[in-house]
Order: sequence, then structure tokens, then C-alpha cells
Amino acid sequence: MVGVHSAVSVITTKRDGEELGDDQIDWVVDAFTRGEVADYQMAALAMAILCRGMNRREIARWTRAMIESGQRMDFGDLPRPTVDKHSTGGVGDKITLPLAPLVAACGVAVPQLSGRGLGHTGGTLDKLESIPGWKADVSVPRMREMLADPAIGAVVCAAGADLAPADKRLYALRDVTGTVESIPLIASSIMSKKIAEGTAALVLDVKVGSGAFMKDIDDARELARTMVELGTDAGVRTVALLTGMDTPLGRTAGNALEVAESVAVLAGGGPADVVELTVALAREMLAQAGIHDIDPAEALADGRAMDHWRAMIAAQGGDPDAPLPRAKQIEVVKAEQSGTLTRLDAMGVGLAAWRLGAGRAKQGDPVQFGAGVEMHAKPGDSVTAGQPLLTLHTNTPEAIPAALEALHGAYVIGSEPGTVPPIVLERIAL
Ligand code: URA
Repeated sequence: MVGVHSAVSVITTKRDGEELGDDQIDWVVDAFTRGEVADYQMAALAMAILCRGMNRREIARWTRAMIESGQRMDFGDLPRPTVDKHSTGGVGDKITLPLAPLVAACGVAVPQLSGRGLGHTGGTLDKLESIPGWKADVSVPRMREMLADPAIGAVVCAAGADLAPADKRLYALRDVTGTVESIPLIASSIMSKKIAEGTAALVLDVKVGSGAFMKDIDDARELARTMVELGTDAGVRTVALLTGMDTPLGRTAGNALEVAESVAVLAGGGPADVVELTVALAREMLAQAGIHDIDPAEALADGRAMDHWRAMIAAQGGDPDAPLPRAKQIEVVKAEQSGTLTRLDAMGVGLAAWRLGAGRAKQGDPVQFGAGVEMHAKPGDSVTAGQPLLTLHTNTPEAIPAALEALHGAYVIGSEPGTVPPIVLERIAL
């Protein structure tokens, strides 16, 4: 009963707006990992943290306790510098797919532990799993081999069970208790995994807008600054870009659709916004690795990034030449009038893709690899009445009405001249 008593005192300390001591934080995270603090107690504490916040010392200590709940990886002995990128999640965010091989092609090792999608935002592993044969599970010795191999240099895989296990349990709990949207909890969750992963440097892509966790630029700034501080204090060179997520990235949202678009980018084409963000993040990653004399735009255009993509996919069992899965049914949404597309809402498109089968309702559900939304116009584009605006892809045609409902009001055609929303909004560094 000592543990229960202590859990109550930790919860009431935070509930009453007081600071948690280092010993309280260490104890509660450790006892939760061991199962001594019950899920309902941790959920109550997460709600108290969401309502009352945590200061810089508390967040740093919480992050440290989450890291120490499991094993730390170390790639410090590799012959090349390591840099990772993490996005806080958005709609159509396939940037890791072209970015990891691009940065590897420029001489940096990219150990990228990624996640699966939940809700309206997609997950990198779900996208890559749409490539026939590709496997998300890679052992640490194999990761090391791939990172050290100059022809590969990047690995995108699932985190092992012993990487910040306290975060895995806590995140699943937050997801079902309305406690995801807390800056201290998001920052410590992301940074505990990234610091435990053993990367020397990190570039954060903090999304802001309707399709992101952070709807508001001030909140995004605070989240970015908190994460940059956590990384820097832990000895990981960390910088963040705030990037727009009012409208989806690129022209596809959905697993195989996004892989095809990423391959187009690696082949030197693809949508301008995906190319712009990929190159901007690659520049930041190279700078963090101390490389200033290589232009990633060239490595993308001349096929070097594509070579690394093919090697990286093949090294994880995938066939880079295999046809990608396609959905059985499509439904085309046409423009009702001519004009300029002035709005295409990321949340509406993300929700539609999810309902079509691209995402999952709960952890462990299967996804439809071919499902999603193809966007034939983006904000700023001129459209003509009757032209296809969106194509919905699904194996479950009964989902189409719900997807159409999600898109209701999500796009607006106006008469004013088009403006293209900016991608990179701000850079945050200490
Ligand atoms: N991603 C994470 O890993 N953790 C959060 O809390 C939110 C997004």
C-alpha cells in the first residue's frame, strides 16, 4: 500500500498546482513501469499535469525518468555522424520517406525510429509496410550494419519494446483519457524516445495548423522550444522548424499513395511543397552534422537519394520495383464551380482518408494500404467547374459517404487570386 499512498500524494501535489520533486517524478515513473502505480492513477496524474503544467526542471526530470525506464541505444562509434528527424505529425506527411535516404546520400547516418498512425494522422511505418516484403522490425546489430554501410546509411524501423517503455504505456493511456494535448507530456514523450535512440543530433518538424496537434503558432512555438531545450540539455544538438499544417502536404494522404508520391520526389519530380520541405529539413540535418558543402537539392535531382532509397528498402526485405497495392474502388469529387481553390483543410482530408481505411480506430487494427485521398488541386490552384478535385480510394465502398461528410466544408473555391500557404514558418534554436 506504500506505492498507492505515494501515487496519491504525487497526484494531489500536482492537482494542487505545486511542483513535483525529482524523487516524486523518479518514483512515479519507475513504479508505473513496474506496474505498482495503476493505470487509473497515472491517468489522473496525466490529467493533473495537463491542467497544471510542469516547469523546465520537472519536464527534464520526467524525460530522464522515461529514458531510464528502458535501454539506451548508442551509435557514437559509427564512422559517420548520426542525425535524426522527428515530425509531430500531420496529414500527407510522407517527408521521412524521401528525407532519410537523401540525407544518407549526403554522408550522414540516419537512425529513424518511427511509429504507426493513430486517428487522422498517418504513420511512417504503415506507409512503408505497403511496399511488398518490407519489414519494420530491425535488430540493433542490423541497424548498426545498415547505418555503417555507405550504400545504405539510413534505417527507418519500429522502436524495440525496451526503448522508453514508460512512454509506450503512458502514451496508450493518454490516448484514451483525453490527456494527449499537454505540451510537457508531448515534449517528454517525443524527446525521451529520441534521446534514448542515441542520435547525436536531431531536427524537429513541429506542425502547426488544423491538421496538427498544435492548432496555434504560440503553442507550437512553446512545444518546439521545450523540445529543443530538452534535447540540448541531454547533449543532443537539436533545432526545430515550425511548418504549416492547415492544408495537407503534397497531393496524397494514404499509405501506398504516399509511397508513390515519395518515389516521384526521389525521381526528381513530385509536388513542390514536399520537395521544398524535404530539402529544407535535409539542409538542417546536414548542418547539425557539420556538413555545409553538400547541396541536398542536387543529391535529390541526380538520383543519389533514389539509390539510397532502393538500398534501404531492399535491406529491410522490400522490393522497390514491386507494384504498390491499389484500392478496389474510387470515387471522384468534382469542382462545383470555376475559380481558385482557397482552402483545402488538412483535418477534413485526414479524417476522410482515415474513414476510407488508411488509418486505424484503435492500436493493432489493420490498415488498408491502398486507401486514401488524392488531391488534384491545392490551395492557390485555379480550378474549372466539373474537373476532378479529389479522388477517394477504398476497399470498403460503404465508407465513402462518411468520407464525403468529412470533406463537407473542407474545401472552398473562391474568386480571389490564389495564394500558396508558406511551408516553413519559423526556425527555433537555442
Ligand atoms: N508523438 C509522441 O510520440 N508522443 C506524443 O505525446 C505525441 C506525439
